[in-house]
Amino acid sequence: MAKDKSVHVCQACGFNSTKWLGRCPECGAWDSLVEQRAPTANSRPLPSGGGGRALGVAVPVPIRAADTGEGEVRLRTGVGELDRVLGGGLVTGSLTLLGGDPGVGKSTLLLTVLDRFSRRGLPTLYVSAEESARQVRLRAERLGIQGDTLFLLAETELDRVFDALDQVKPRALVLDSVQTLTSRSAEGVPGSILQVREVATRAMQVAKGLDIATFLVGHITKDGGLAGPKTLEHLVDAVLYFEGDGMSPLRVLRSHKNRFGATGELGFFEMRDVGLVEVPDASARLLAERVAEAPGTVVTSAMEGSRPLLAEVQALVGRPTPSTPGRTSLGLDKGRLSMLIAVLGKLGQHLHDRDVFVSAAGGLRLPEPAADLAIAAALVGSLRDRALPPDTLVFGEVGLVGEVRGVAHPGPRLAEAARHGFRRVVIPAAAAEAAPEGVEVIGVRTLKEALVALFS
Ligand code: TYD
Ligand code: MG
Repeated sequence: MAKDKSVHVCQACGFNSTKWLGRCPECGAWDSLVEQRAPTANSRPLPSGGGGRALGVAVPVPIRAADTGEGEVRLRTGVGELDRVLGGGLVTGSLTLLGGDPGVGKSTLLLTVLDRFSRRGLPTLYVSAEESARQVRLRAERLGIQGDTLFLLAETELDRVFDALDQVKPRALVLDSVQTLTSRSAEGVPGSILQVREVATRAMQVAKGLDIATFLVGHITKDGGLAGPKTLEHLVDAVLYFEGDGMSPLRVLRSHKNRFGATGELGFFEMRDVGLVEVPDASARLLAERVAEAPGTVVTSAMEGSRPLLAEVQALVGRPTPSTPGRTSLGLDKGRLSMLIAVLGKLGQHLHDRDVFVSAAGGLRLPEPAADLAIAAALVGSLRDRALPPDTLVFGEVGLVGEVRGVAHPGPRLAEAARHGFRRVVIPAAAAEAAPEGVEVIGVRTLKEALVALFS
């Protein structure tokens, strides 16, 4: 029997070391290594509490005879926004991690999904390790849950959860959450890195072994990462994030990793008192709260995954200040903001001594360079207190010498703009050919030309 060894495990990223270190060499966190007893090789039982199948002889196959995965079975959840983010539905036997801030609506979303399956007669199981059965029942009533094959288990012990699988034989399973479930086969308190990793590993074995489409809920920690993000992201098949800005009811579902489909797709929902409602026309929803003709606001056409999305970029420029001016960016790239401020300075639009705030309205994130021209236009609009006509839309990447560069997918971006009634667009000259009918397209080669077109 091997002697128990101790390891020091980083609570932020899961890195481990035999000796204590003040700073994690993997993620750079300070004071994050905690001493734990290392699990010995044979201390990890198989899913159903130690039963499990005997290990057979591994059989290599010729690579050209290997399973292509084309036979993978997808279950449509019936929640269209989720199905699209997953790449056409949930793959059976897959493990999906759903991350997000507490209160954003993760439990609500997954309860809704299980209800949709259940209405089609599929057996499903919702395991709540956070809320009592009564609390979940009350929520289910509020959501109008109807399925007769949706089962509920309020339990924190993973082994007991797995023992219950035999009774329900679910096709879809929700484990809510990875931080509150505990596995007897690992050391540590619930939510610690060893526990989180063990729970996820065993959930994966169950998903694969019993062919159950499994969701694992994970709360995001204050610094924005899932507990043990690196280890979990590698372990699971897909990682989705559910986000909101804390103020508006709009929720965005984002795919961060997907072993069975593309990433970058977004799904939009609104949290109402009857639960989460899908928002298939996100552009209309995002523009609904717009105050037309406000200086410092510009509408742009962004690409989110394969979908164009109209979004409002806002800027607020303060008065000149003798102290170091602040730069705040919400949802837009801070490095690009600094670059745009410098480029605008060269054009005589001086912002270097003023506080500058920019944001993508609605809690969106628009990190793509195609938002540059809209950010620059919003900054100049706020600086000069000039509003654009409400049917004007702007997109394009701005380079270091003030040139305006082409962007990917100009056609879909313009089509979305036309569909929502934008009649005048200022875009890279290279994209001007893609103009839809009825839209005045002004192709520009430089930021200077764009500012002339917009503000003179
Ligand atoms: P919840 O799904 O519990 O969030 P999470 O699992 O991510 O922590 O959602 C919690 C919030 O959503 C809570 O503040 C109440 C609100 N809510 C509604 O507005 N409408 C509803 O129908 C439900 C069920 C919740
Ligand atoms: Mg919850």
